[in-house]
Amino acid sequence: MKNISELTAEEAKTELEYLAREIAKADSAYYQNDDPYLSDADYDRLKHRNAEIEARFPDLIRTDSPSKRVGAEVKSGFSKIAHRFPMLSLGDVFSIEEVKDFIRGVKRFLNTSEEIDFMSEPKIDGLSFSARYENGIFVQGATRGDGTTGEDITANLKTIRQLPLHLENAPEILEIRGEVYMSKKDFLELNERYEKEGKKTFANPRNAAAGSLRQLDPRITAERKLSLFAYTWGEVSQRVWESQKDFFDHLNTWGFPTNPNNVLCHSTDEIESSFNRLMEIRATLPYDIDGVVYKVNSIALQERLGFLTRTPRWAIAHKFPAEQALTIIKNIRIQVGRTGALTPVADLEPVNVGGVIVAHATLHNEDEIKRKDIRIGDTVIIQRAGDVIPQIVAVRTDKRPIGATEFIFPEICPQCGAHAIREEDEAVRRCTGGLSCPAQAIERMIHFVSRDGFDIAGLGDKIIEDFYHEGILKTPADIFTLEKRNRGGDDLFSAGDGLHLERKEGWGKKSVQNLFAAINAKRSISLPRFIYALGIRQVGAATALLLAKNYGRFDTFMTDMLNRETGRLIAIDGIGASMALDMVEFFREPHNLDIINRLLTEIRVENYVDNTRYDSPIAGKTIVFTGTLEQMTRSEAKAKAQSLGAKVAGSVSAHTDFVIMGTDAGSKAAKARELGIRILSEREFIELIS
Ligand code: IVH
Repeated sequence: MKNISELTAEEAKTELEYLAREIAKADSAYYQNDDPYLSDADYDRLKHRNAEIEARFPDLIRTDSPSKRVGAEVKSGFSKIAHRFPMLSLGDVFSIEEVKDFIRGVKRFLNTSEEIDFMSEPKIDGLSFSARYENGIFVQGATRGDGTTGEDITANLKTIRQLPLHLENAPEILEIRGEVYMSKKDFLELNERYEKEGKKTFANPRNAAAGSLRQLDPRITAERKLSLFAYTWGEVSQRVWESQKDFFDHLNTWGFPTNPNNVLCHSTDEIESSFNRLMEIRATLPYDIDGVVYKVNSIALQERLGFLTRTPRWAIAHKFPAEQALTIIKNIRIQVGRTGALTPVADLEPVNVGGVIVAHATLHNEDEIKRKDIRIGDTVIIQRAGDVIPQIVAVRTDKRPIGATEFIFPEICPQCGAHAIREEDEAVRRCTGGLSCPAQAIERMIHFVSRDGFDIAGLGDKIIEDFYHEGILKTPADIFTLEKRNRGGDDLFSAGDGLHLERKEGWGKKSVQNLFAAINAKRSISLPRFIYALGIRQVGAATALLLAKNYGRFDTFMTDMLNRETGRLIAIDGIGASMALDMVEFFREPHNLDIINRLLTEIRVENYVDNTRYDSPIAGKTIVFTGTLEQMTRSEAKAKAQSLGAKVAGSVSAHTDFVIMGTDAGSKAAKARELGIRILSEREFIELIS
């Protein structure tokens, strides 16, 4: 190959043309066909040569130059991927005492007093991914999303060189899951570069990794340096490992990076020392970890232990203690939330807490301010634990300046002037302005489009706020009529009396079109997301999922609520009377009904499709356990029934299908007889389900 300094312009032109073609071919083989034929080094050599020729002959840079593109094409939006096995999260504990409780709980559940082996693994602070292989070939990548449905990031994952694209001797279907992260070094370099280029920097490596992986344009992902560790699996056609340890060995032979600090522990003491060791080396690790995960090593035991609603019973995350710092309270102000709650927030002298700059902290409520005697001007200890909003731990009264002023909690909503009332036994003071309070109306819309709700990223907080004040969006239902209202006639941007957002400052045709596309993509929505988005008090994502599972259809749920029929609600494990009351109250409010009805003319709410087995004889049935079971513990039986699609209720009612009776059964069995409900012995139950 000729030295670049000796190339004539004619030769350079020919070679650039050749390189563009070759690199495009290699890219397509790598990104589209899963079949790279160039080694990384050879590929890099071509790219490098291309860049050098371009540097000498900038006039000859081609419009389709490989230096301008990396990998696959831009996508218009992520498509969704339903996880065949949900991607769960882990329960959190913060002390070794709680870890011991957890281990005791595991043993109790399994009814054993012997020591159980646990795998101890650093908890990587990144974001989880799922990589699907069919016949040993990487075919699909997904984010966790809400755990049930994730985003298709196949092209993005492929840009991470650590991810093997071919596996030898792998089961026909194999989903490998793990964490994508950005190393501390790569994070600092990226931010430094962005700083220079005047771009917005990332708050921490986790955000940088998330922002890089969830890129519609995989070329951007390719530019950012991402790494990964594999640690668990999803769907597998044939599980060829017997333990977590064994699984890691398989991961290594397939070529997945696994964390070198994963260790097998044979006792609680070993678990404790693995934790202490990681605490010690934490700062020296090249990536962020936020705790340690302990997993029951034996898969057979994992299977017996099963799952709670969103977390496995066989694993737990032991979080590192929160990081603390000293700072000064500059001001206290009141925020009005979606449900009208007045929350005091402290504005702080910005301070670095464990790598993150903190400028605000929540003060929770007025009692909290009194209890901790927090005053403006005080020096306080603040802490940050994981993603939790920073909190004020205590005041350093020894540092209190003379002029420190007490904060007087307002009894009038600072946003709308309505009375703010504090009910007896309630810690929170609430604005009584309802949706006539701008803060509540705005927060409700922000909640509506948030990640767990309609997830419309194009409608940021600031836009919602502006649109609200300009009368463009007053309620969530207005979001879906925005496009219609924007046109004056049939054409999207025709003259007439439309809103013409495209003429607003900071907007243009393209950005308005993007916004409408993002909104229209959500005209069909899953039931749990819809229920969550409504913003009913106390109904978070987990509760919305429970409701969706139980009712299946929105109209069934709504009819019950309109009839103030709460029997079925309260029978759901995890929903109490106070929540039920809030739900009924929500549907009694005419304004809410109006919003729902208007929404339903614009969008379609999908019925809930359950992933649990529905071919079992107890699927969809409501079961009550009573008395002492012999073959398995009560929790184990309950978990088993749930995994086979049954609902387990605490008390017998007309809705009950089976009562499973152990020894010493009491009043529940009597009630079942009275109602003529089928009673099964433990043995009969096991026969039925096996
Ligand atoms: S196991 C059912 N192992 O922590 C098992 N998770 O709160 C689910 N994570 O969503 C996960 N390191 O993003 C597991 N060694 C590890 C992990 C880990 C980090 C993250 C993961 C998960 C979250 C759970």
